[in-house]
Amino acid sequence: MFLRCSVKNIVLLCVLVILLILGSLMTDIPMEKRSDNTYHLDSYTSNISSSTVRNNHSTNFSAVRKSITVKNLNQKDLYSHPYKYINTPSKTCNHKGSKTDPFLLIIIKSNVRNMDNRIAIRSTWGNISDPSVRVVFLLGFSPFLEKFIRMEQSMYDDIIQEDFLDNYNNNTLKTIMGYNWSVNNCKNTKYLFFVDDDYLVNVRLLLDVFRKRLPSSIFTGCVWYNAKPNRNVRRKWYVSIKEYPDKHWPPYATGGSILMTYDYANKMKEGFKSIKPLYIDDVYLGIVAKKLNIPLTNDGRFHPYYNLGRIHQMYSIHNFQSPNRLVEDWKKLKSILKA
Ligand SMILES: *[C@@H]1O[C@H](CO)[C@@H](O)[C@H](O)[C@H]1NC(C)=O
Ligand SMILES: *[C@@H]1O[C@H](CO)[C@@H](O)[C@H](O)[C@H]1NC(C)=O
Ligand SMILES: *[C@@H]1O[C@H](CO)[C@@H](O)[C@H](O)[C@H]1NC(C)=O
Ligand SMILES: *[C@@H]1O[C@H](CO)[C@@H](O)[C@H](O)[C@H]1NC(C)=O
Ligand SMILES: *[C@@H]1O[C@H](CO)[C@@H](O)[C@H](O)[C@H]1NC(C)=O
Ligand SMILES: *[C@@H]1O[C@H](CO)[C@@H](O)[C@H](O)[C@H]1NC(C)=O
Repeated sequence: MFLRCSVKNIVLLCVLVILLILGSLMTDIPMEKRSDNTYHLDSYTSNISSSTVRNNHSTNFSAVRKSITVKNLNQKDLYSHPYKYINTPSKTCNHKGSKTDPFLLIIIKSNVRNMDNRIAIRSTWGNISDPSVRVVFLLGFSPFLEKFIRMEQSMYDDIIQEDFLDNYNNNTLKTIMGYNWSVNNCKNTKYLFFVDDDYLVNVRLLLDVFRKRLPSSIFTGCVWYNAKPNRNVRRKWYVSIKEYPDKHWPPYATGGSILMTYDYANKMKEGFKSIKPLYIDDVYLGIVAKKLNIPLTNDGRFHPYYNLGRIHQMYSIHNFQSPNRLVEDWKKLKSILKA
């Protein structure tokens, strides 16, 4: 058992059990049913000028849609992201509390339900004593879990969460949120590492390599070239020809393990506003990078599989299967990987 017997962990364990029960009973209700009676249409296709909706989170989008014509659209700022923060960390970067921005900010995209993954990460590779590295988690909204997330936030203060519904289709919204928050709040951070909540990250190696090499600008990950969109309606990553007509995806960093310098993250964040979102977020980042002429650097050390045997030479390995497995593996590797 990986949890220590502190009060904090016992409380969290109870929460976890409740969550597991809840999770098996329920699926998320649609945004329309939220008590405040407002809703956000998916911004994937939203045909709204951001000036119309900016800072107005109670906007009735179908009313707005009807009231504007294409001519009114500000083409440069089409894909506004009209979501409100529910939680943000207070001490991660310089703007408040903390004395300095971290050298490396690790931004973990996590399903709101995966509290167990987050606990495991916080007690293994994410428990970093080096002050030049900080870890935050990106979450969407779940009406059932809001209270638990607030509790989690009060304990760890490492959650960025907006009020769009947390599910796979809204992945890209979560990614956009991560770029926006980090770029706006961590202006002196050198590197941003975006990673999913089922990765084991070798923070030690990242620091060793990037502290020495310090490329002025880089966007790197395990890059796939000439991959094709899936045109089979029944498959998970189906994309229609209408949505993406080209035969091939542009090169993209696969999986959800991408490191970049602040300047590129800033450019990407601006690019999101005028490039139509696609729900497959790693591909979307490839599309945006291509439009912005940001070169992708392929590096096999960002590994899309769980190759534990080679972890000492990898930046990240994917899919630890279960939180307990991560904790077990970490015990074996601790001496090599501790940052
Ligand atoms: C916006 O909506 C209009 C009419 O509904 C459509 O003709 C136009 O192509 C849309 N523009 C974008 C960028 O989606
Ligand atoms: C916000 O949206 C509501 C509903 O569409 C509208 O009545 C109100 O005038 C808007 N407020 C601002 C400040 O734009
Ligand atoms: C939003 O506006 C549409 C069109 O004006 C209206 O039919 C609908 O009832 C409104 N919805 C809400 C939640 O106010
Ligand atoms: C980006 O973040 C800023 C502050 O961190 C917030 O005010 C703004 O609404 C966000 N914008 C988008 C597009 O998410
Ligand atoms: C993180 O590590 C420190 C010791 O380095 C330990 O005291 C602390 O309990 C750990 N935190 C978690 C969440 O495991
Ligand atoms: C999120 O996903 C749900 C379900 O796929 C969808 O109904 C909703 O419109 C999406 N967007 C937001 C902003 O919640």
